[in-house]
Parts: sequence; C-alpha cells; structure tokens
Amino acid sequence: MLPQTIFDNGVLYTGDALAVLKELPADSVDMVLTDPPYSSGGLHLSARQAAPASKYQASGTKKVYPPMLGDLKDQRSFVMWATLWLGECWRLAKSGAPCLVFCDWRQLPAMTDAIQAAGWLWKGIVVWHKPNARPTMGAFRHDAEFVIHAAKEKMRTHTRQCFPGVFHYGVDPRKKVHLTGKPVALVKDLLAVAATGANVLDPFLGGGTTALACVETGRRFIGVELSPEYAALAAERIHVAEASLQ
Ligand SMILES: C[S@@+](CC[C@H](N)C(=O)[O-])C[C@H]1O[C@@H](n2cnc3c(N)ncnc32)[C@H](O)[C@@H]1O
Repeated sequence: MLPQTIFDNGVLYTGDALAVLKELPADSVDMVLTDPPYSSGGLHLSARQAAPASKYQASGTKKVYPPMLGDLKDQRSFVMWATLWLGECWRLAKSGAPCLVFCDWRQLPAMTDAIQAAGWLWKGIVVWHKPNARPTMGAFRHDAEFVIHAAKEKMRTHTRQCFPGVFHYGVDPRKKVHLTGKPVALVKDLLAVAATGANVLDPFLGGGTTALACVETGRRFIGVELSPEYAALAAERIHVAEASLQ
C-alpha cells in the first residue's frame, strides 16, 4: 500500500508523484491545482542545478527551509517529465475538470507545451502579481508568476460568477513554511473555479498550501509530496486547519 495519511478532508501520499498517480483511479478528481518544481533559475544546466535556495531565495535571507526535491532537470527532460505527470493527471480528471499549474516566466513555453502534449485543452494564463518581489537593477522587476489554465475536454463551469485574470498577493515570509510556498489566500481564490465539495488533486503538495485552501473552502484534497520533511510539515498544518474548524 502507498504511504498515506488520511485526514477528515483528504489524503496525503508521501512518495513520487508519477508512481502514486499511476495507482489512483481514472475519472476521480474534479480539479487539478499544482505548483511543481520549476527547474528554473538559470539559462544553463549548471545554474539550473544549483541548490533551489540559491535560485529562489533573495540573497541575504536568513530563513532556512528543508531542501526542495526534483528541481534539477534540463529543459528537454523537464518537458518530457511534465508531460508524463500531466498525462496521469488527465487520466484521473473527470471530463470538464479544470487544471491549474503554477509556472514562472522562464518555464512558461515549456509548461504550455507539456500541458497540451498531455491532452489538456489550454484555456489561458492567470497572473499572480507579487508586489513585494525582489527588484532587478536596471531591468524589469520579475514580480509575476503565472498559472496556466487548462481543462479536460470542454470545461465544466459551476457558476455564472466571473473571476479576475490577475491576483495581487505579496509573499509573507513569516507565514511561509516552504522555500517556494504560495499564499493560501491566492490558492483559495483559484479554487473558486471548482464547486464546493470538489475533490482537488495536487501532486506536488510541498508545505500543504492546496490542502489548507481546500479545508478552508469546503473542498476535498488528494496531495502527493516526495520529501518526507515537507510531507510532515504539510500534515501538521492540515491537522491545525481541520482542528480550527471544529
Ligand atoms: C514548488 S513546491 C510546492 C510548494 C507548495 N505549493 C506550497 O505552497 O508549499 C514543489 C514540491 O514538489 C516536491 N516534489 C519534487 N519532485 C516530486 C515528485 N517527483 N513527486 C512528488 N513531489 C515532488 C518538492 O519536494 C516540493 O516540495
């Protein structure tokens, strides 16, 4: 049996996403929302293979996070690998399910190729504007990340509400438990494209942000995380979030 922790609102598997996803049943999830390792941060292999903390953390930052795994791929293997796990996500998704995948500017073309190669219908790009991103001297500030929006076949909508295409959320280092942790409030906003009660898959759960956002908005989650340290951190946060609802 796969190593797993069961919660009131979902399940967390500790292991490799591809290996875990292959074991799960087809047509069982209402939405995929994930933030995979970007394998970004440099034009050349040596720069990409630098420690994630040196790539994604501003110099001079003192906070130390557990190591983030799986962030070493060159561009071709990144696209092939992403196509494999996105293909598994496609198999698990119900027809009409939305798929949202975080990405930075450097990996945007690679990720939009992979998502379509895996069978998803590309619908657009959502912008996450980070007002407190580090400045770039003499050039344009990299103060946005992107969320690729796709769907399995014709997207099923559950509401007549219209959502914005740009979200503004700063990163609060005091609340971050993961090197590249996303704001829970942002992920809660993104979950709005799936109905309350939806079963949401995140194969790269990290510190548990998607699970927390699901707990806080009345959705269910299936999370996968390779790092036992991050899986433990995520489990702790999920327990706290569930307890605060009781
Ligand atoms: C960008 S982080 C996710 C951060 C998360 N969104 C958060 O807010 O905490 C990606 C995560 O994927 C994990 N990871 C890397 N390779 C993996 C794999 N093959 N299977 C499952 N998880 C993996 C890393 O350890 C990392 O925690």
